[in-house]
Amino acid sequence: MNLELESKRSLERILHSLDLSKMAKRDQKLFIRRLHEKFPQLFVLLFEIYGHRYDFFFYLQSVIQTLADAHTKRSRKLKDKDQARLNDPHWYQHENMLGMACYVDLFAGDLKGLKDKIPYLVETGVTYLHLMPLYDSPKGDSDGGYAVSNYRQVNTTLGNNKDLESLANTLAEAGISLVLDFVFNHTSDEHPWALAAKAGDIDYSEYYYMFDDKHIPDQYEQHLREIFPQIRRGNFSWDDDSSKWVWTTFNNFQWDLNYTNPAVFNAITDEMLYLANLGCEALRLDALAFIWKEMGTNCENQDKAHKLIQAFNCCLQIAAPAVVFKSEAIVHPDEVLKYIDKDECQLSYNPLLMALIWNTLATRNTHLLTESMHKSFAISPDCAWVNYVRCHDDIGWTFDDAVAQNLGVKGQDHRQFLNQFYTGRFEGSFATGVAFAENPSNGDCRVCGSLASLAGLEQGINTDNDTLINHAIARILMVHSIILSIGGIPLLYSGDELALLNDYSYEQDDSKKHDGRWVHRIPVTDAVIAQSNTLNTPQHQVTTGLQQRIAIRKQHSLFGQAGTRILNSDNPAIFAFERYTDEGKKLIAICSFSEHRQVISSTYLGLDNGQVWHDLLTDFVKTSAANSINLQPYQVMWLTQLD
Ligand code: GLC
Ligand code: GLC
Repeated sequence: MNLELESKRSLERILHSLDLSKMAKRDQKLFIRRLHEKFPQLFVLLFEIYGHRYDFFFYLQSVIQTLADAHTKRSRKLKDKDQARLNDPHWYQHENMLGMACYVDLFAGDLKGLKDKIPYLVETGVTYLHLMPLYDSPKGDSDGGYAVSNYRQVNTTLGNNKDLESLANTLAEAGISLVLDFVFNHTSDEHPWALAAKAGDIDYSEYYYMFDDKHIPDQYEQHLREIFPQIRRGNFSWDDDSSKWVWTTFNNFQWDLNYTNPAVFNAITDEMLYLANLGCEALRLDALAFIWKEMGTNCENQDKAHKLIQAFNCCLQIAAPAVVFKSEAIVHPDEVLKYIDKDECQLSYNPLLMALIWNTLATRNTHLLTESMHKSFAISPDCAWVNYVRCHDDIGWTFDDAVAQNLGVKGQDHRQFLNQFYTGRFEGSFATGVAFAENPSNGDCRVCGSLASLAGLEQGINTDNDTLINHAIARILMVHSIILSIGGIPLLYSGDELALLNDYSYEQDDSKKHDGRWVHRIPVTDAVIAQSNTLNTPQHQVTTGLQQRIAIRKQHSLFGQAGTRILNSDNPAIFAFERYTDEGKKLIAICSFSEHRQVISSTYLGLDNGQVWHDLLTDFVKTSAANSINLQPYQVMWLTQLD
């Protein structure tokens, strides 16, 4: 079949009956132009997924009407934003960018309270704010909001839709881009679609994967991993109401959507555009690796998952092009890279950097980090990493075993060591963390804990040991320096800038005690902010140290749109990289992962070019004569050449 010809024909037919009567005339022209540009791509993608169905054209036509209707409802302000972003497509690579992720309730009580905290965000330098899922969700355990019962309704404990829109506006005025979750792998079992399925509605039963018995689930199960084995074995749950087995990758109450059904693609597109029209500028694609299931595979990172995401992105670019996608793929590093593309996800979490930062803090050896990052930073210049050290989730050790093997590190054994180290079971470890999702069959687990506790501050304070405290502070600042300088958007996890320690109160809460991730989901009270303003507290040192680094980042374009090259150093405790521009400007970052003083020779890092280099963080100057550099424990240098 000639897809190009069929695409042209389909578009002609669709345009013939497309209802644009409610769309302003001037928007119609632009909309039609974008449709013409993007339709051929969308057609091919959807044809590959749904083209075998007799009703393909019906769904195609209806999704285009959905795009038109959503664009009609889009506010003038957001339409202007669409144009502005198209004129500046690399906005997220700017040195001014600084992200923060927070729970509305833990950070500010509710959406109104969050508005009052905008000055704090501005003072911190935040330009990108990810609000953890704030939609209607089941009472009690809702997986921190990742079980959505209604995408169009704000959880009443946080406010209402008007509050959210008004917040989005105020954030935009303060220069902060709002980022929302697009939880599209599953809905909660209380979503109207799920309720209809429970009641036996045939159409809605096809929105999910529902089975009369375990025969087919068991066949799938042979190749699947278990995400939360501590709460339920396997990937399917029995639903009493419908008397069916339901695919639930995560919790029992999170029902996986069935994307083999085009009605699901269309319905979710509608929900996505509703979120886009609230004024968010990025959507975080939650659990995107899981959206396509294919018998006989592990049902992660399937080719059609990529096609679906590209199709969603096409829809956005037609109806709301100011919005970009951010990938949340916490999978093998090679698979993470496959989601990063300007037509798929322009942004992506960098879980490999995150995991290897923690790995290297434990081992004090940078080889695995250096080797792994060589490959990671070769992403498309149109895209950007979102670099983070902690987030609301656990830490999984997702490095590439083959890369580790080449360095003489055995993947499985090493993961066990890291789990022991970060749960404090390894003698001499500085970390205080909690084991998460322990799998009784294979002994696997992951790690939870706040950044400060994992970095040693909790132990230092509990044992009243100044050396441990100082090392912890230095670690916290060093790891943040990496995400602030290595290229992409640095993303702080709210509370880490205040060095908050683990909060064990979740153990007393029935809806939380089975989920150790709550240990690092901590209220940011006025009291802890005040503590960070109190001179000589560790919190104060972390906050001011971070402020200094953020301010420097924002002043130098080399932290923004510039290339990243990972350097090999002659000292295994040192991680180094350079940022460079086509005009020959350079910044060399040197980071020590050791609590002892270290020396490196400048020949290794290209610092012996006869020039004078100076550190942006201290008043250190490296003259052309000096052929080595000394570093204090966990010191970072950002070396540039004076103009
Ligand atoms: C994502 C979220 C995590 C959640 C899961 C299921 O990975 O980050 O918190 O449990 O998806 O939605
Ligand atoms: C797994 C999943 C990830 C999820 C996490 C939650 O790592 O790959 O998507 O966020 O589990 O614990």
